[in-house]
This record gives sequence, C-alpha cells and structure tokens, in this order.
Amino acid sequence: MKATDILALKEAALGEARAAGTADILEQVRIKYLGRKGLLPEIMKGLKDAEPAERPAMGRYANELKQELAALLETRRAVVATAVAPMSSTIGEAFDPTLPGRWRALGARHPISRIIEDAIRIFDNLGFTVADGPDIETEHHNFDALNTPDDHPSRDTQDTFWLESGQLLRTQTSPVQIRVMESRPPPVRIIAPGRCYRRDTTDATHSANFHQIEGLYVEKRVSMADLKGDITCFAQRMMGSDVKVRFRPHFFPFTEPSVEYDFSCHVCGGKGCRVCKQSGWIEISGAGMVNPKVFTKVGYDPEAVTGYAFGMGVERIAMIRYGIHDIRLLYDNDKRFLEQLAQ
Ligand code: PHE
Repeated sequence: MKATDILALKEAALGEARAAGTADILEQVRIKYLGRKGLLPEIMKGLKDAEPAERPAMGRYANELKQELAALLETRRAVVATAVAPMSSTIGEAFDPTLPGRWRALGARHPISRIIEDAIRIFDNLGFTVADGPDIETEHHNFDALNTPDDHPSRDTQDTFWLESGQLLRTQTSPVQIRVMESRPPPVRIIAPGRCYRRDTTDATHSANFHQIEGLYVEKRVSMADLKGDITCFAQRMMGSDVKVRFRPHFFPFTEPSVEYDFSCHVCGGKGCRVCKQSGWIEISGAGMVNPKVFTKVGYDPEAVTGYAFGMGVERIAMIRYGIHDIRLLYDNDKRFLEQLAQ
C-alpha cells in the first residue's frame, strides 16, 4: 500500500459522507471507515509493513482521513436531522401516488364584468378614456344639471331611492357627464361604467340595481352621424359583425334630439325569440345630441362645441350576448349558471 492509496480512500470516504441523506446511511459510512473493524484501523495495522519511505505520509493521510471524516459526519448528521423528511417516511403506506390530484375550483370573471371590460377595450380603440363617479349622487348632478325639471316623472320617488341627507342613489350614469364637464374644458371623450339604482320591482327584465355605461363625446362639430357610427361600430365589435342597430326618436331632457336604440337579437338573429320577446330587437338604452342647456349649465359654450351622449344597459347586452332570458340569473350567483358562461 502507498500513501496515494490512502489519499484516494480519504476522498472516497468524504464523498460517501456528503452523499448520505439519512442518519442511518451516515452511520454505515462511519462504521465502514472508522469502526473497530473498519478500513482505517486496518490501514493503521498495515503501517508497520509499509515501505519506510512511505510511512510518514501514510500516517499523515490516515490521520487526516480520520479527523476530516469525523468532522464531516457530524455536520452531515445535523443537516439530515433538520431536513424535511422524504414523503415516504412521513406518509408511509397511506400515500397512494395513483390517486387523482386534489382539484381546486378556479374563479372566472362575472358576465357583467366581462361586458364592461370588453366595452372599455372597444371604446379605448375609438379614443375614449374611462371616467368615474360616486353611486351616492347629488340632486344637482343626477337631475338639475342634466336639465331634468322638478316635475319630470323620473324624479318621482317611485323611481328614485332618496336618502335622508337629500342625496340619492344615482338612477343613471349620466351624472358622470356633468362631473367630467364641470372639471375640465372640452374636448371630452369618455365612457363611465357603473351601477345605477331605481325603485323597480324585480322581474325577468327589471332589477332595482343594474349597470350602465355612459358615453360622452364633445368637440367642434360632433354630429348625430358620429353617434350612429360609433354605436354601430361598438355593437358589431361586441356582438358580431352581423348585428344591426336601430335608432328610434325619443325624449331625454339632457339630449336634443334624442333617440332610443336597439340591437338586433343575437340569440335568434332577429327572427323573434324568448329573449327579445318575439320582436327581434332588444332595447339597449338612450342617446342623443347634448342639449345646449346642459352645456350652459356646466360652463361650456354651446356655440363653440357640440357633442353626443349615450347610455348603455350592460345587463341587456349580457342577456343578448349570452342568450339569458331572465336578468335575475345575473345576480343570483348560482354557480351552476355562472359556470356555463365561464371562460
Ligand atoms: N341616462 C339615460 C337613461 O338612463 C340614457 C341616456 C344617456 C340618454 C345619455 C341620453 C344620453 O335612460
């Protein structure tokens, strides 16, 4: 035996100790090298028969093996004691790797949120930014500034939730128009999605709490043609290129002239079905050219700018896009219903 053999043995011993992952294996390494009948005592015994020239180096390497291995075994023992035990030793036989994994239900966006997000994206492409306003509104923003006189039927307590403070739950998103125009000069091109509240008795097509998206575009020479073009563009991007839009004359105090507009029913293709109540059309909301009186109230010069405004019933759009015939399904939060629409 030569000194280099002992050096090789030392490397092997340290390598085995480093690779050992459990206290049991570490103990086996210890016994193999340092045990009473181990490799090291054997080497010590053989020293006397070795070449005299080799002997000092052999003795030194044997000593190193003993000390370094003992030290390494100690650190490794501490390491494996604190390591996370492998699965098999904690779960043992009870662990069945063939069982299917545990399934966690994933959430999905609600259809109302999806319509609003899609609308924001579509109008973003048309140059609109998003504006916001409070659900609890003042009479000024919800009615007065929108040129809605005291005796207008929509002011009736039948329709409006009045608060003791004299404020109200907004009945429409149109007050956001006022807030935006009061706070900045023209041009304005915004949409304002949000909740609205009316004292409606809930049925298949009415809910006391619903969503609208308000739109307002004010600049020099905005016309009714812009309104029709933009609404039609929106309808086709939202519902598909075959949808038709119909405008009907109507009255709103804050627009003149005013229209109501309908989308052709996406569910039956306009032939008539339960969702569109056999008419082939679904009313979406109202729109029109901003009444000059509104411009005056917010401090805009009605001679300098014109504008269009529109509302949009989010639930109505959801109903025709997804073929829902009862608005209440959108609020019941019945997972069996929502899962059908999850994307
Ligand atoms: N705010 C109106 C409503 O809720 C809709 C509308 C908005 C009409 C903007 C004209 C202009 O019925």
